[in-house]
Amino acid sequence: MEQARKRAEELLKIMTLEEKIGQTVQYGRYDDRRVELIAAGRVGSMLNVYGAERINELQKLAVEKTRLGIPLLIGDDVIHGYRTIFPIPLAEAASWNLEAMENNARIAAVEAASEGIRWTFAPMVDVTREARWGRIAEGAGEDVYLGSLAAVARVKGFQQANAEGYPTVAACVKHFAGYGWVEGGRDYDTTDMSERTLREHILPPFLAGIQAGAMSVMTAFNEVSGVPASSNVFLLRDILRNEWGFEGITVSDWESIEEVIYHGYAEDRRDAAMKGMRAGVDMDMHSGVYQEHLASIIEERPDMLKLLDEAVLRVLTIKYALGLFENPYTDVHQHEKLILAPEHLQQARLSASQSVVLLKNNPGILPLDFTKHRKIALIGPLADDHHHTMGCWSHKGREEDVQTVRDAFTAELAPHAEIFYEKGSEVKEELEGGLERAVALAEQCDIAIVAVGESEDMTGEHYNRTVINLPECQERVIREIKSRTNTPVVVVLMNGRPLAIEWVQENADAIVEAWHPGTMGGGGILDVLTGAYNPSGRLPVTFPRATGQVPIYYNRKSTGRPNLYEDYLDCDDNELYPFGFGLSYTTFAYSDLSLDRTSIQADGEIKVSARITNTGTRAGEETAQLYIRDMVGSTTRPVKELKGYRKLFLQPGESAEVDFTLTATELGMLDEKLEFTVEPGKFTVWVGPHSAEGLQADFLVV
Ligand code: NOJ
Repeated sequence: MEQARKRAEELLKIMTLEEKIGQTVQYGRYDDRRVELIAAGRVGSMLNVYGAERINELQKLAVEKTRLGIPLLIGDDVIHGYRTIFPIPLAEAASWNLEAMENNARIAAVEAASEGIRWTFAPMVDVTREARWGRIAEGAGEDVYLGSLAAVARVKGFQQANAEGYPTVAACVKHFAGYGWVEGGRDYDTTDMSERTLREHILPPFLAGIQAGAMSVMTAFNEVSGVPASSNVFLLRDILRNEWGFEGITVSDWESIEEVIYHGYAEDRRDAAMKGMRAGVDMDMHSGVYQEHLASIIEERPDMLKLLDEAVLRVLTIKYALGLFENPYTDVHQHEKLILAPEHLQQARLSASQSVVLLKNNPGILPLDFTKHRKIALIGPLADDHHHTMGCWSHKGREEDVQTVRDAFTAELAPHAEIFYEKGSEVKEELEGGLERAVALAEQCDIAIVAVGESEDMTGEHYNRTVINLPECQERVIREIKSRTNTPVVVVLMNGRPLAIEWVQENADAIVEAWHPGTMGGGGILDVLTGAYNPSGRLPVTFPRATGQVPIYYNRKSTGRPNLYEDYLDCDDNELYPFGFGLSYTTFAYSDLSLDRTSIQADGEIKVSARITNTGTRAGEETAQLYIRDMVGSTTRPVKELKGYRKLFLQPGESAEVDFTLTATELGMLDEKLEFTVEPGKFTVWVGPHSAEGLQADFLVV
């Protein structure tokens, strides 16, 4: 990086004002005018351009036609795969498997880079408690600890070195900041939170991603406590640059610099450009306000040249650091051996299995047993849908690459069972005659596997919902099968957010949360249903009973009336499934919680251990979770906070010890002045299978 920066400094010295401004300009549409601008050295970056040939043509204009030959930085939303689509990020988070997250990101980067893309607008690290918000699908869920680990894994994966030793693609932690806190789950809406919430729950995954080397940060659409994020000096200068020392680039979200006009924060495009640059947004995504106005702004306010120079220096540094000056072009044949490579598809299938959370399993239902499940009915609008299986943000994924549940069952289970299929209903509406056909089919079969949930366009950007139930037309299919046949029903959920499925929980015989599982989703789900893969996923979000409970999350604060139940007249208080929950085909018992001491100094450490035993009859993986509570503080603390977890694979009857070490990092908090401190007093620690259960012990910090 240092060498890249030195070279950037040299280049900056010989640049004209117009050339400098060019480096801060990014466009996301490609037309004759923009081609001319590229050839004139007035564009630094593009997104939404695809194919090595096309990208090479643009690079050629930048490298050969312009005075300085500065290559373009080509970006794209490579969110959960490029052509090989992996499970959506929320699903990946449900695996709690950091190695898988890193590997998936690495593969996504390799495929994208093989077509000339060297920058991804991922990972989205917005922690959120808002299940109505469509973009909950793109993040790692509600928890800051798990979210920070996921951020690190994904940044490392994307930026893993390529054959020449450069980062394969530059990662971008987004959306800085507070985007997951939108009011009412309405995308782009206002966020307003205390600085404590900002620092405790929202910022840590950004910092973790940056410390892992993330080369860029994207600013958010929303305002944060009165100031739009894309012109927010406090966030972008005070925290990001001064406090954290971030040296990479910041890019706005799509036209978000210009949009501060509509927030009522800038008078016009010129004012918006000035405020974006003042806050330290280095690159303007698509709005063109920097291109149009930076020159005249600097003419009027020469002091702002310094800010522009800093921005350009960072953009050039990243281009050197990615090796773009050495290798601006992409081998046009490279993608042929990398896109959908067998290793990529295999990993996608494994990752789909690892992301599955088994929510319910009545005795004798799963895994499938072909001595009794000879005739299998596959039912539901998502059992054979090549599009929705990929989930949101999968624009380079192709339907023909996707293996649905039906595809996988038909191809792989034919020798063991007879497979039948009926759609039953559409995702959002009834299908004429579908319900009756589905019931008739279920009646004739030994088991019904009903794949239901959300379509791709019910989750992701701007796809928010006020009611997060299973659409009525789909639930009806399950209800009718349950009430009119004796066939056991396995519900396979494919969705991008927690769903309020109380009725399904009470009535289905088994529930398999598969999320939107990606290209190899069908095979991944098959492996779980047959038991080839023993499910090991754990929820990264709380599932409510009813939408009206949202926001509902495990690390809440205690009220002054903690024992007063009945918050609602019309709904139980507790969640449907707690954060961290997930079943297996085997069972695990927790015992022997022990602490190596009963009290520690504020800068000391304490070891916590527990024994986990596989008490069932199959080998399986448990995720032992450690939570703490600081019982009394100078400011109140959450009733539980995840501070560690271990995954362990145990044979039947086998037991193993898990160890955790708690230090100031885990035990500290922000005091009244928002200063980090470890306060003396009593702490409770739990080690258990999820956030609502665990062995418990206390210790003191003295
Ligand atoms: C808007 C989205 O908010 C952002 O996440 C994405 O990277 C950009 N559009 C570019 O597509």
